[in-house]
Amino acid sequence: MKIVETSFAYKVYDEPSQMSKEDQALMEKAIEQLDHAYAPYSNFHVGAAVRLSTGEVFIGSNQENASYPLCMCGERVALYNAAAHRPKIPVEKLAIVIRNLRMKIDKPVSPCGACRQVIAEYEHLHGQNIQILLKSDGLQVYEIDSIKDLLPLGFDNSFL
Ligand code: THU
Repeated sequence: MKIVETSFAYKVYDEPSQMSKEDQALMEKAIEQLDHAYAPYSNFHVGAAVRLSTGEVFIGSNQENASYPLCMCGERVALYNAAAHRPKIPVEKLAIVIRNLRMKIDKPVSPCGACRQVIAEYEHLHGQNIQILLKSDGLQVYEIDSIKDLLPLGFDNSFL
């Protein structure tokens, strides 16, 4: 028997202005989407923006339903939007921002398990890391290099 340890490093920007102009623009797009979220049940708004390797950007926001299990996360809407328009183009970066209308959340919030699995699918499909930017109400931005960091020992189609 042996113990295998994993760890990962991620970047913390003190404020968005420390990021590249391209990443600031992507984050701005995600922030814009907070107002397009349809979240009357949770009051938790999620805005997302995906940048492809061509530089093209696709957006998404969470979309809820009176039948709660049908609610769809913002990052998945953005990824599916990008994939529906440009199925062959790798995703380079995904910016995710949240706004909880009931309380301020300063620390960046990271994607739910289902979204991690979906991000992993596109990373695997294109054989290219998807970097993830996370921001909440505070100025801090986290940058994660790959979904493999958030979903270690993940399941993918190599097992099928
Ligand atoms: N939500 C997202 O959009 N992304 C996540 O990663 C976590 C949760 C949405 C789903 C639902 O509309 C609301 O946030 C509360 O769970």
